[in-house]
Amino acid sequence: MKATDTYEGTIERTLFSEAEIAQAIERLAMRIAADYRGKPLLLLGVLKGALYVTVDLSRAIARIVDGPSEVCVDYLCVSSYGSATRSSGEVRMLKDTTHPVTGRNVVIVEDIIDNGLTLEYLQALLGGRNPASLASCVLFDKPYHRRVDVEVDYVGLVAPDEFVVGYGLDYQELFRNLPSLAQLRSRVFAQ
Ligand code: PRP
Repeated sequence: MKATDTYEGTIERTLFSEAEIAQAIERLAMRIAADYRGKPLLLLGVLKGALYVTVDLSRAIARIVDGPSEVCVDYLCVSSYGSATRSSGEVRMLKDTTHPVTGRNVVIVEDIIDNGLTLEYLQALLGGRNPASLASCVLFDKPYHRRVDVEVDYVGLVAPDEFVVGYGLDYQELFRNLPSLAQLRSRVFAQ
């Protein structure tokens, strides 16, 4: 049984297909590979949501000739939403990076930016550790409810102002493994 079968009846509509997401990641990879050509790069994925985009982006960069001299992949884990459908506004560090970021070219990889508090928190935290450079890459941008003015260097796709799931994004820890980005039926929230 496919994930799409499991979630049948709960999805209102597909917003970005698997192929559209793959193309967006390809475009992000080309831009990042060009900007870090010949330099070592640390891709820092923000769990849990950015698990999938970090994996796919790092491999897309590897397929590009004349990209970074080396690519290291690391993860940290923060959470702000809990089980609610809107952010609590409080960012909690659940797991820090495995390796130090000092002196390295760091690109934070996020699945989505909404109110911006998570990325603001991470930029302040990691920027304070004296990386050689610090940039941010977000696959899905929801620019409608920003609470802080946070800079994003690489944006993949702009998502509509809906509660979205799939490609790493969850509702109560489900739907992360959906290969596309989708809008949930509102009745799912009412349960
Ligand atoms: C999601 C997402 C981002 C953050 C963005 O994480 O992965 O990290 O919210 O929202 P913001 O711009 O409003 O701060 P979440 O806290 O839901 O944890 P998860 O990645 O484990 O699902």
